[in-house]
Amino acid sequence: MKRTTTTISQADIERQMAYCQEIAAISQTKPEQPLAFVDTYGCQQNEADSEKIRGYLRAMGYGFTQDEEQAQIIVINTCAIREHAEQRVLGNLGALVHVKRRHPEQIICLCGCMAQESHIAEKVKQSFRHVDLVFGPHVLWKFPEFIHTLLTSRGRIFQIPDEAGSIAEGIPVVRQDSVKAWVSIMYGCNNFCSYCIVPYVRGRERSREPQDILKEVETLVSQGYKDITLLGQNVNSYGKDLETPMDFSDLLEKINAIQGDFLIRFMTSHPKDATPKLFETMAHCEKVAPVLHLPFQAGNDRILKEMNRKHTRAEYLEKVQQLKALIPDIVMTSDVIVGFPGETTEEFEDTLKVLEEVRFDALFTFIYSPRVGTPAASMPDPMSREEKLANFNRLLALQDTISEEKHATYIGKTIRCLVDGESGDMRYPLAARTPGNRLVRVSGPQELIGQFVFVTITDANKWSLCGELAE
Ligand code: 5AD
Ligand code: SF4
Repeated sequence: MKRTTTTISQADIERQMAYCQEIAAISQTKPEQPLAFVDTYGCQQNEADSEKIRGYLRAMGYGFTQDEEQAQIIVINTCAIREHAEQRVLGNLGALVHVKRRHPEQIICLCGCMAQESHIAEKVKQSFRHVDLVFGPHVLWKFPEFIHTLLTSRGRIFQIPDEAGSIAEGIPVVRQDSVKAWVSIMYGCNNFCSYCIVPYVRGRERSREPQDILKEVETLVSQGYKDITLLGQNVNSYGKDLETPMDFSDLLEKINAIQGDFLIRFMTSHPKDATPKLFETMAHCEKVAPVLHLPFQAGNDRILKEMNRKHTRAEYLEKVQQLKALIPDIVMTSDVIVGFPGETTEEFEDTLKVLEEVRFDALFTFIYSPRVGTPAASMPDPMSREEKLANFNRLLALQDTISEEKHATYIGKTIRCLVDGESGDMRYPLAARTPGNRLVRVSGPQELIGQFVFVTITDANKWSLCGELAE
């Protein structure tokens, strides 16, 4: 496949870093270090993008705050996947008008997937006049240049080019965590599931060069990171667009070969591209965590076809069987949409059957939300909100029972877990993760954060496990 996307040159990134330096010189003339507030909505890809925005901001001499009153720059990094998330952003963005009235010098920026939607950008242009900068994911790499323009000449900037997307290496990052790290391996999506906005706002699939990914993971491991999640909208199609094609399994092998004690996770996988080769690679690569997030969305074949998912329920179940045959204790999670246009309650019950058959450890459940510009948004959708909610509640109840039963089987087992933070629970103050990414609350001292420890599981509920350090 020929690349339709562009690679941003190192000279271009250096130019952005030069803008950062000029801004840093302006920052130094201020009586106090200027502060920025980066507010992130949505998925891990957005978290990873915010780490780049923070990286640029630090290079501009900015510190960070969570208080919008203290911030000279506010960046809202948004998610467009469902309407509810968009409403929240618009509500919070609207409220900033009062903050800006108190601090007229403040620069307010909107970015991420919502910013890339032209109807949103238009709304912000007309009705949110306190917003200074709107930029889409394709031009995130130009953030310093935008800020430089705003600092030196004011005005408003709207940059949402509609393009296939680019890859930019060498943007600095400020990571939020010192144990777990996100590493994007590819961007965009070519699948065009009929309900989904992502392909319209994130562009076409494009893979980073393997050597850039390997270098990043090696650096993270040398810095002490223990849990590395490879990110992409559809990681199973990694490499199809590279000059020297390689697939996701080959990449996993190479990352697994990096020296060090760390875990490799990845998300998201599309069932159509999850192959026996991937499952075998997961089974024999000891650093690849025994967990797979494999969204199935719906259990009925007519609905799957309407969703343009390119797999049937039987194909999905067969893949799960193949994987379970190779890794019997695999932890499986999935995404499900309830109330897709035209889905009847009988068709929805096929989704429940998949839950019973696969017995997922956890599920991410969504009520269908129409997205402007997607094919599903113009499909007839006769089912009432109440009926959709009733089905949704049946789904939650079934999954709760399954999660509780699965979690109960952990009691009495001793498992090597990674302590990754505090739990907020006085009795079990540490938060840890099993290799399958189940949350375990553990009693023990703070110094264990960032370490692998053996934990004996003593109790469980539908959400999490708890345990004691093993002798
Ligand atoms: N409505 C509801 N859920 C959606 N998702 C994606 N688009 C929509 C939508 N329009 C869900 C899918 C996807 C997850 C990230 O969000 O389940 O896998
Ligand atoms: Fe959206 Fe489907 Fe692409 Fe996932 S695979 S991002 S659901 S279009």
